Amino acid sequence: MTSSVLLLQPHAFDLQGHRGCRGLMPENTIPAFLKALDLGVTTLEMDVVISKDNQVVVSHDPYFNATFSIAPDGKPVDKKDQKNLILYQMNYADIKRYDVGSEGNSAYPEQQKLKTYKPLLSEVIEQAEAYRKTKNLPLFSYNIELKSEPSEYNKSQPEPAVFCELVQAILHKQLSPERVTIQSFDFTILKQWKQGADEGKYPKVRLSALVENLRSSAKNIEELGFKPDIYSPYFRLLSQKKIVWLHKQGIKVIPWTVNQRKDMTRLKKWGVDGLITDYPDRASGL
Ligand code: G3P
Ligand code: CA
Repeated sequence: MTSSVLLLQPHAFDLQGHRGCRGLMPENTIPAFLKALDLGVTTLEMDVVISKDNQVVVSHDPYFNATFSIAPDGKPVDKKDQKNLILYQMNYADIKRYDVGSEGNSAYPEQQKLKTYKPLLSEVIEQAEAYRKTKNLPLFSYNIELKSEPSEYNKSQPEPAVFCELVQAILHKQLSPERVTIQSFDFTILKQWKQGADEGKYPKVRLSALVENLRSSAKNIEELGFKPDIYSPYFRLLSQKKIVWLHKQGIKVIPWTVNQRKDMTRLKKWGVDGLITDYPDRASGL
């Protein structure tokens, strides 16, 4: 049996490192992803946006967050300026000049402070794969969130078809589809990917519907228009009844962002297929 088959076994519990491991390292950076691998995650969760020069950049916010960003002149980004530093309107060479690690993040006091930058998706994959080989780690997956905002279509943000095209081009070159999940809160993006995959244009990856609303799972799935491989709600919206219903539909359930051990234990008992956490260390031996 190959390792990729092992990875797909239905009962394997999928421990996902949120933004790498935001509780311990600067979010969505290479040090965070490598640390998460050291801690034994089975999936690296990350967010991507698109720069003005069409590079796929790993970042949660489509701007430089004042909480933890230092401008090239060495000064912290001011709160009133942060939303003017839109990544979709900047070339990657300029984005890379900002330090997003030295400042730390007071919401995550255990987070290590170190100078680092927002990486490209291609670079994250390259570095994580090299690390896996050097350390002889088991195969892991990538859960890539397309941070697409419907209100921004036709502004600086590319339309769903362009967004998906840019991401798929990287995946196509660097990863086999069974190692990838594409997730989004934007159902238009998920529909776009499904259509591209059905037409044979995009890799047939797992698709995960992110949810943070009070509608029923059935309503959300109806709105999506197809059964996603994974249903991924904010963990406090989940009940055991919902998990049972989703499993009956053949859909896996992987909630976010679960940071307390007692919540991890409860959700695992309820039967979730995995969980996304800022603190993979707290999930040890779960
Ligand atoms: O992937 C789930 C989770 O990451 C969604 O929330 O805002 O941290 O991207 P957010
Ligand atoms: Ca995310």
